[in-house]
Amino acid sequence: MTKVLLTGGAGFIGSHTCLALLESGHQVVVIDDFSNGSAEALGRVAELAGLGPWRQTSAERWSGAEPGGSRLTLFRGDVRSSTDLDRAFEAADLGGGISAVLHFAGLKAVGESMAQPLRYWDVNVTGTVRLLEAMGRHGCQTLVFSSSATLYGTTDTVPIPETAPLQPINPYGYTKAAVERMLTDVAASAPGWRIALLRYFNPVGAHPSGRIGEDPNGRPNNLFPFLCQVASGRRQHLEVFGGDWPTGDGTGVRDYLHVMDLAEGHGRALDVLQAEPPQLLTLNLGSGQGHSVLELLRTFETTNGLTLPYTVVERRPGDSAVSVADPSQAERRMGWRTRRSLAEICRDGWAWQSANPQGYSTNKPQHTPELIGTQHGS
Ligand SMILES: NC(=O)c1ccc[n+]([C@@H]2O[C@H](COP(=O)([O-])OP(=O)(O)OC[C@H]3O[C@@H](n4cnc5c(N)ncnc54)[C@H](O)[C@@H]3O)[C@@H](O)[C@H]2O)c1
Repeated sequence: MTKVLLTGGAGFIGSHTCLALLESGHQVVVIDDFSNGSAEALGRVAELAGLGPWRQTSAERWSGAEPGGSRLTLFRGDVRSSTDLDRAFEAADLGGGISAVLHFAGLKAVGESMAQPLRYWDVNVTGTVRLLEAMGRHGCQTLVFSSSATLYGTTDTVPIPETAPLQPINPYGYTKAAVERMLTDVAASAPGWRIALLRYFNPVGAHPSGRIGEDPNGRPNNLFPFLCQVASGRRQHLEVFGGDWPTGDGTGVRDYLHVMDLAEGHGRALDVLQAEPPQLLTLNLGSGQGHSVLELLRTFETTNGLTLPYTVVERRPGDSAVSVADPSQAERRMGWRTRRSLAEICRDGWAWQSANPQGYSTNKPQHTPELIGTQHGS
């Protein structure tokens, strides 16, 4: 059993990956500041993983020395804080130490990054510097980083290979490019680093149970959560940005992948990093299939027996006509490809949204300020 640290593990992709890692036998420690995630999400992960009731424990009681060892521990903490990071690493050290970090914590909204660039540089870049320093202090050299297809900017290349030029066009993208650059330098600076840069395309959907899913703060920035909120009546209608793109039906084409496929991709990346000699691995994670906005909308309607109101409005600045991954390297290097269809994405996304129209906002557990809970496996 490997012990891994997930930064941002209480968020959308982190919580689904946490579940996949628990199910494949890993022990997981999470650090999250709850700026866009919740303890409730991980309580549900614990339940889905069959770990029994989610328990809040005091600072004195989280010890991994308890019978069975702790399978899932969640800390409230900020990745920009060396103290918070040390607390998470030191908690894990008691039971043998963290062997790998999956770094999800970050800010991800393009528009917000243009309005608040310093915040994005601080959380996304400074947060990664602090994390790498903490990894150095605790002797951990294996890292999986959440990068993004946003790095490719508005390229016309279809599909996009990892070798395509990186040309981000907004502060969010610049911070992802800066972190990729930094991690490349770190990997070259000393032997022993095992780093995966995973460039996600459009992760959507939810766990098929409907118990965990995407719960964005405020107005969703992305199409799929917005569409789900229209379906549940939380938003009045969908705005489709641009009906005059050079695509089949005039709407933008994207590469949607089921979040559980993405979660499993992280498990594969970890396996490869740990099994092979130290390396820097850069991989696109996408389906390789493009679907237009209207195609996604129609599939959602047909799959779930719904009709959704929408209007086509002006294009958004910075959008591109088509963004589709060439995922062949991920298959070649780690035997990973997406397995779930667009219809499954729509079915599972709606299962989550219809069962949790307000996301996790109701039924949040009470918790202590720092240590939220430790879940012990049997
Ligand atoms: N969702 C996407 O479409 C997408 C696409 C490409 C890349 N990514 C990247 O994947 C990662 C995860 O994305 P997500 O969709 O799960 O986002 P999310 O917002 O749901 O999850 C991020 C988590 O990080 C936490 N966090 C933020 N700042 C933190 C800090 N300073 N310290 C500790 N925790 C902090 C948040 O509370 C949240 O739980 C992000 O780095 C994002 O940039 C996401």
